[in-house]
Amino acid sequence: MDTVIGAPGAHATSGERALRAMPGGVNSGQRQLPGLEGLVVVGAKGATFTDERGRDYVDYHMAFGPQLLGHADPDVDGAFTDTARRIDLVGVAVTDVEIELAEKLVATIPSMEQVLLTTSGSEATFHAIRLARAVTGRRYLIKFQGCFHGWHDAVAMNVISRPERVGHKDPISMGILPEVLDATLVCRFNDLDDTRAAFEAHPDQVAAIIVEPIPHNVGALLPQPGFLAGLRALCDEFGALLVFDEVITGFRHGLAGFEAVAGVRPDLSARGKAMANGYPIGALGGRADLMSRFSSRPGGDVLFAGTYNGHAATAAAALATIAKIEREPVLDHVFHLGEQARRGLSDAFERIGVPAVVTGYGSVFCAYFLDGPVVSYDDLLRNDADLYVGYRLESMSHGIFELPMNLKRSHISYAHEESQVSQLVEQAARSVRAVLDRRARDEARH
Ligand SMILES: Cc1ncc(COP(=O)(O)O)c(C=O)c1O
Repeated sequence: MDTVIGAPGAHATSGERALRAMPGGVNSGQRQLPGLEGLVVVGAKGATFTDERGRDYVDYHMAFGPQLLGHADPDVDGAFTDTARRIDLVGVAVTDVEIELAEKLVATIPSMEQVLLTTSGSEATFHAIRLARAVTGRRYLIKFQGCFHGWHDAVAMNVISRPERVGHKDPISMGILPEVLDATLVCRFNDLDDTRAAFEAHPDQVAAIIVEPIPHNVGALLPQPGFLAGLRALCDEFGALLVFDEVITGFRHGLAGFEAVAGVRPDLSARGKAMANGYPIGALGGRADLMSRFSSRPGGDVLFAGTYNGHAATAAAALATIAKIEREPVLDHVFHLGEQARRGLSDAFERIGVPAVVTGYGSVFCAYFLDGPVVSYDDLLRNDADLYVGYRLESMSHGIFELPMNLKRSHISYAHEESQVSQLVEQAARSVRAVLDRRARDEARH
C-alpha cells in the first residue's frame, strides 16, 4: 500500500501537503535534507528568511548564491515590476531591454564579444557544450571532479563523489546514456598533468574543457597559480575550447567575472545566479566567430531556442542588479564581510582546538573540518562531514542558516551586517562545541 501522510481531509500541515503533492515536497534536489523536514518558508527580505512558524533565520545560503544584494532588493524588484507592467513576453524579434542588457554584458565582460540570454545556468552550459562540439567536430568534453555545471546529461557526474567513486565515472542521476557518460572525461582539479594526459589519450577528439574557475560546488577549491592559465594553454595546444562556468563566480566575485581576476580569457563563458539577484536568468557569451554559429542568426547551424529566453522583466532585473553593483560599494561590502567571516571562523576554531581549513573567496566562505592542505577534491574526502552538517543544524536552531549539507558553501549579501557576521562566528564556535560534546557523550556511552 502507498504511504499516506496524514489522513485525507484531516488538518494536514503545510509540510504534509507539500509531500502529498510533490515528490519529496520540494522542487529541486538538495532542497530537502535531514533536519529540514517540515520547513516551509513564507517570507524573505534582506539578509533573512522567515518560516511559517514565524521564526527568522539570518540566511547565509542565499538560494545557492543568487541574492548578492540580499533578498527582495527594492531596486531590482522595482525594475522587474515596472518592466513587467510595460511588456510581458512577445516571443518575436527582440525587446529594447534585451538589447540594453546584451550591450552591457559585452561592455563589461572582456571575453564576451557576443552574448545570448537563457533562463538558467544549466541552459547556458548546455549550449556551450553543444556549440563546442559543433565547431570542433569533436566528441569529448573534459570536466573536473567536484565541479557542477547543471542538470544535463553531459555534465551530471562526479560532483560530491564517495571515495570509491573518485577516479571513475560517477553519474549523479540514473537515465543517462552510457555513450554520454563515456564522452565526458573527468580530471583532477589543479592537476595540469592529469588534464594533459586526458588530451593525449584522445588525440584530436577533445572539444572543450568546462571548468568552474573556483569549484564552489564543493565549497571553495581555489585554483593554484597558473592552473587556469595552464588550461588555456592546453586548449590552445590541442585545439579545444575553454569554457568558464561562471554561474556562481560571475558578478559575485567581480562584474567582469573571475576571468578578470585570473587574467585568463575563455572562449566561452556562462553566467546565471547573481546576474539578476534571484530572478531566473542565465547567459552564454564569448568569441563572436563561435557565437555566430547559433541559430539565433539566420543560417546558424547550432540550435539555440527557449520560449522565455531574454524575458524583458528578468532582463530589467539583471540591468538593475548590475547598475547597483556599479553604483554602490556592493562588492567592497561583501568582500569585507566575507573576510570577517573567514578570519573569525578560523580564529574561533583554532581557539577551541578543532582542526579546520576556512576558505573561500570574496563573499563566499566555508569551513572544512580537516587538516590542510586543500588542493583538490580528494583532499575533501578527509572532511568531518558529520561535524560540517551537525554544526549547521545546531546553528539553525539559533536562527542562523547555513545549508546543512556536506561541502556546501555559504554566501554573504549586501544586506548582511558586520554584527550578524560576528554572531555567525560566535554561534558557529558554540555549535561546533555542542556537536563535539554530544559526540564525546555518545562515545562514552558505547
Ligand atoms: C557552477 C554552476 N553551473 C551551473 C549551474 C546550473 O545553474 P541552474 O541551476 O541555474 O540551472 C549551477 C547551479 O548550481 C552551478 O553552480
